Amino acid sequence: MREWPSSVEVAPSILSADFGRMREQVGEVLDAGARVIHIDVMDGHFVPVITFGPKMVADITDLIHDRGGFADVHLMIEQPERHIDQFAAAGADGITVHVETCPHLHRTLQAIHDLGCRAGVTLNPATPVAALEEAARYADVLLCMSVNPGFGGQAFIPATLDRLPVMRELAEGRAEPVQVEVDGGVGPATIADVHRAGANILVAGSAVFSTPVPGDAYRELVSLAAGHSRV
Ligand code: DX5
Ligand code: ZN
Repeated sequence: MREWPSSVEVAPSILSADFGRMREQVGEVLDAGARVIHIDVMDGHFVPVITFGPKMVADITDLIHDRGGFADVHLMIEQPERHIDQFAAAGADGITVHVETCPHLHRTLQAIHDLGCRAGVTLNPATPVAALEEAARYADVLLCMSVNPGFGGQAFIPATLDRLPVMRELAEGRAEPVQVEVDGGVGPATIADVHRAGANILVAGSAVFSTPVPGDAYRELVSLAAGHSRV
């Protein structure tokens, strides 16, 4: 199992990439220095949209791994335990599931570990953060959804900022390194705040790929996350 970066990482989400040029677009952000590539899998049930399955993941993980990167798979699907082996086989380094979809969450996180992946757990903005308290003992990544999952390009929900210090504290309570990730509405206006509030993996979809030059947008976000003023 590969150790995740505990450094601050802007993680481009391919949800907003041009799916017809996926390898090229992923290559652009890897060239710019991205090391965590966020991969959103949606089933049209748990969330309204369908994106893609393990084949798409398999088609880009060789590229990600060649550059020393991590494939961060976020499963927004019902019954994720039925599919995690396929995503692990497709080259996922981390697999994150929602507490809302996992009645047997401990078993699911264990199954992700058994497949050699880092196990992540996340929850929707209106799910009490206390739902993570137990799960945090078994997870390697705690992901704070800062929008309702399902679409790129939504506005950041400011109240979710309060949840990041709670998650950071849960992460710090573990002997092993645990990452705190944030996902949704992260862009130039919010990235410094989410970093300050406790997240070290900062997912950005539209702020990277809905721009003319994704590599430049990635680099600017890295600089803003570090607290530098806009260039
Ligand atoms: C939303 C997804 C996000 C999405 C974020 O359901 O989980 O990863 O790509 O997109 P932006 O950064 O545009 O809010
Ligand atoms: Zn996501």
